Amino acid sequence: MKKISWWEPMIGESERALVNDVLASNFINDGKVTTDFENRLADLLECRHVVAVTSGTAALFMSLAVLNIGPGDEVIVPDATFIATVNAVAMSGATPVLADIDPVRLTLSPESVSAAITPKTKAVIPVHVSGRAADMEKITKIAEAHGLHVIEDAAEAFMSKGGGRYLGAFGVTGCFSFSPLKLITTGQGGVVTTNDEAVMNRLRQIKDQGRLGRSTGVDYVIPSIGYNFKLTNLQAAVGMGQLETLDWRMARLRGHYRVYERELDGIEEITLPGFDVENGEVPLWTDVLAERRDELEAYLRDNGIDSRRFWIPIHTQPSYRADGANFPNCTQAMNKALWLPADFDLTEEDVKYVCDTIREYYTKLA
Ligand SMILES: Cc1ncc(COP(=O)(O)O)c(C=O)c1O
Repeated sequence: MKKISWWEPMIGESERALVNDVLASNFINDGKVTTDFENRLADLLECRHVVAVTSGTAALFMSLAVLNIGPGDEVIVPDATFIATVNAVAMSGATPVLADIDPVRLTLSPESVSAAITPKTKAVIPVHVSGRAADMEKITKIAEAHGLHVIEDAAEAFMSKGGGRYLGAFGVTGCFSFSPLKLITTGQGGVVTTNDEAVMNRLRQIKDQGRLGRSTGVDYVIPSIGYNFKLTNLQAAVGMGQLETLDWRMARLRGHYRVYERELDGIEEITLPGFDVENGEVPLWTDVLAERRDELEAYLRDNGIDSRRFWIPIHTQPSYRADGANFPNCTQAMNKALWLPADFDLTEEDVKYVCDTIREYYTKLA
């Protein structure tokens, strides 16, 4: 039977060679390669500053820390996201306040944001789910009207554009993840982007124990509280290698999406939230809303095809349980949402096979 994997990270010869160079240099900490990686990403994302960190979660936490958001403050997050978005808020000491999503785009609903604002609200974190832009125009307007900060969770949206700009450029900061399921990976890792120099300087302090600039010893005054969120030269070398195939990676994912869009057309039980590929949205993982989703997933598995069910709503997670909470769009969509295989290696024929299998499943049901 054909085996179709959902996703596999792709590591090439360049990564190996660049990592070997770092090993040979004997400087495996955060250093020149990390800085080169940051500069390269700033060019690619057309932003002023990039700070490399240990993960997307760290990027989100650091963004809250820069803004002095903590205990007593509220931060609005979508009910549909990877739990890291909410955990980062909890880590800051602030209270995450959940809001519903748009039923079509599956991203934070601006109306729901408005309804969740209280005098304690300090920030809102829209999430660009699967690489699809949240409604940044409306969310930014609401935030401005209420004096809220916008922090973008662009963990799934590296190189994706919305409203003519790279996602991550709308908020005070943009937070990216380079975990293994992303467009490029450094194993673990991420970056914070910003156009504000003061924010960048604070981020650099927060990522390195409150220090700014390289350590020269131990007996000196450290001006602020910080932690350790440094990305090493070794990880950055992997990232630099991955960037060599960036265009190819994006082209593969766009190609998969186009086949899905074409081949799933006409299947009544399937709805594609879709991507605005023409305007630069990068479909990291093609997602669909599927009737009888769990049975479909099992049928695909029986036919050698790996797919992934979306997260369960955050308000149903034990750590953030909100009994009586009412997020109807999220509750409905999370029962239906499925990520179809997006592995770089899939051929057009493979993607067609996935679509044919989906069609076959629903035809059998009829
Ligand atoms: C939407 C979202 N937010 C945050 C994260 C956290 O990133 P990381 O795993 O690098 O901490 C991820 C992915 O892992 C994610 O998909």
